[in-house]
Amino acid sequence: MKIEDLKKTFNELYGESDNDISGYFAPGRVNLIGEHTDYNGGYVFPCALSFGTYLLVRKNGGRKIKFATMNFDHRGEVSLDEPFEKEGKSWINYPLGVVSELRNRALEVEGIDMLYSGDIPNGAGLSSSASIEMVTGTALNDLFGFQIEKMELVKIGQNAENNFVGVNCGIMDQFASGMGAKDHALFLNCETLDYEKVPLVLNGIRIVITNTNKRRGLADSKYNERRSECEKAVEEISKVRPIPNLSRLSLDEFKELKENITEEVVRRRAHHVISENDRTLRAIDALNKGDIEEFGELMNQSHNSLRDDYEVTGKELDVLVDEAQKIRGTIGSRMTGAGFGGCTVSLVKEESIEEFIRVVGDNYEKQTGVTPDFYIAEVGDGAKRIEV
Ligand code: GLA
Repeated sequence: MKIEDLKKTFNELYGESDNDISGYFAPGRVNLIGEHTDYNGGYVFPCALSFGTYLLVRKNGGRKIKFATMNFDHRGEVSLDEPFEKEGKSWINYPLGVVSELRNRALEVEGIDMLYSGDIPNGAGLSSSASIEMVTGTALNDLFGFQIEKMELVKIGQNAENNFVGVNCGIMDQFASGMGAKDHALFLNCETLDYEKVPLVLNGIRIVITNTNKRRGLADSKYNERRSECEKAVEEISKVRPIPNLSRLSLDEFKELKENITEEVVRRRAHHVISENDRTLRAIDALNKGDIEEFGELMNQSHNSLRDDYEVTGKELDVLVDEAQKIRGTIGSRMTGAGFGGCTVSLVKEESIEEFIRVVGDNYEKQTGVTPDFYIAEVGDGAKRIEV
């Protein structure tokens, strides 16, 4: 992304002005392990990517927020003197949701011109929406001197998505986009929000993201269905042992209590969550000990659990992971994000990457008729101001 080009478009769209343009960036994320645990008070282990969303913004002296993006042909204007309303399925709902959450906290912005530009593949499950929310929150906080702490900005991003956009996501994506650190993954306890930055020392191994290029069709409704299944499990277990969320149970405790869950399918959903927490803890331990093979094995097991117990994978993700795991230089491979399409994440030895891309690409295409995309991830920083 060339900031100079973005600035040029900004001035063409909004005209020159004496007010300064400020620039911000917030990344997308990839989750290494700990999937569908965040809304269950569990553990996640994501990292921020080097691609994300850029934002240029300037005060316009008026009472309107003007939105534009380089990614679609859609612009918008919203008056600060009227109640904010959701605009269908427009991308504007993400930044507007953030402004609305600021207003809920009695923090008022003034008229601004905004231009966004993202380089995260759309709908790939790499959190382009969280990056829009986080870049917006970071920009407005800085521009209007609100002095909101980073973790609160993360919550504002999540609230924007839950309350304004209407997607019931957990906190992982906004957290990773807001708090990411170069060459580190983030170990977050989603109940207490305690976290630790863990150095990603991969010695000759790279993180390869593979995009199924399958749109995540029913993702939102299935996502909500999984959330309610987990709530049901909590409710039934709580009749004999009150718990606020599934992550309060160890695997052994779950074995003793699981018969209290009436439906077999709900039991499997709960088993995924509790076993995934256990895998995530063990994976971080393995990484800290430099045992990357064990980390990879736990990634593979995570995928199996998401496929069999949680049922959020589907043909495309399963084919990609199967094919990836057949390559000798693959340390581990699993789906990442919500599932139902989107991307996989694999750890691959550098010398095998060329073979990985060629063989996994060909075999996936043969079995699905779709060409996948491959990205070699660079782990970058969280949301920040940039020089313009
Ligand atoms: C989506 C949600 C996250 C998380 C993952 C699954 O990315 O936005 O909050 O629940 O799915 O781990």
